[in-house]
Amino acid sequence: MEILISNWSNVEFVPKKYIFPLERRPGKIEFPVCHDIPLIDLANNHPTDTIQQVIKACQEFGIFQVINHGVCENLMDDTMNIYKEFFKLPGEYKAKFYSNDINKSCRLCSSTLAYDTEEFHYWRDNFTHHCYPLEEYIMTWPNKPTKYREVVSEYSIETRKLLYKILDMICKGLALKSGYFEGEVSKTNVISVNNHIPCPNPSLTLGMPVHSDPNLITLLQQCDVPGLQILKDGKWIGVQPIPHAIVLIPGLQLKVISNDMFITPVHRVVTHAKEARTTIGVFLGPSPESLIKPATALVCTKPMFRAFTYPEFLKTFTAGAKCDAQFALNHFRNKT
Ligand code: OGA
Ligand code: NI
Repeated sequence: MEILISNWSNVEFVPKKYIFPLERRPGKIEFPVCHDIPLIDLANNHPTDTIQQVIKACQEFGIFQVINHGVCENLMDDTMNIYKEFFKLPGEYKAKFYSNDINKSCRLCSSTLAYDTEEFHYWRDNFTHHCYPLEEYIMTWPNKPTKYREVVSEYSIETRKLLYKILDMICKGLALKSGYFEGEVSKTNVISVNNHIPCPNPSLTLGMPVHSDPNLITLLQQCDVPGLQILKDGKWIGVQPIPHAIVLIPGLQLKVISNDMFITPVHRVVTHAKEARTTIGVFLGPSPESLIKPATALVCTKPMFRAFTYPEFLKTFTAGAKCDAQFALNHFRNKT
């Protein structure tokens, strides 16, 4: 069968490989809207209040949405349309990018990189590539749709600016040395786009694994179709799609730097019976050399984690922890 689900047409039933065993199925899908997930207006006239809202959100939910964030709405729409078109391109063109090699800087895959060996497949295609430094990577990007490179380069510059604006607020809120999150700790900048076609039976399938983001911080542009859920107090709650709002998720590296003050939420994506869903994720993460450790200024008595590099973390993540990032993090936690 065709691997990429974006190449399927007239899908009337869920193929067996996509049906999760009972205990992993999401069951009846409801989209309860959670109004508690903080929605922060970055144009607020009281910057110190806004910083406090961001810090509180990182401590209580580990996820929040922002409006008046400075990324131009037309650019957001254009980028979303580019990706919707990209996934509709002929299979032969997309096949040029297909790869399950994590070291490939621009790659298209379906389900996860473990497609060939996994027992069950997730209902998604994913397109990922590096964005920084732009000149180093732009030639590896698609040239179809024709405006891809033009639009996505502008989008990657604008979203990177927003991510640094948020990191600067976190830096101020935690009273860290100015520029703490600049340089090696946030050097890796990747765009990762998920595409899910409508699924005939969402209660049997998952659009993305239950996971936590292992990087420093994630920015997510949702489309108007719900699907993202976070686990809060033992319940799955939906992250409401708000037109032109942007979702932010502190990753596990930030949790370490905050000396365990921040939450990195466990989340997943469920599928939708009627609508296709496309989301654009922008991930900032450390360079391979960067040493991750609790910020000295935040350690009162003892650091909660020992220092490690991101490659060390990823090794534990893929080997010992079977891709459970929170579990992998415990490997670096100091005993109390
Ligand atoms: C991710 C992620 C959520 C979504 O890419 O890590 O959680 O809604 N994406 O696509
Ligand atoms: Ni995620």
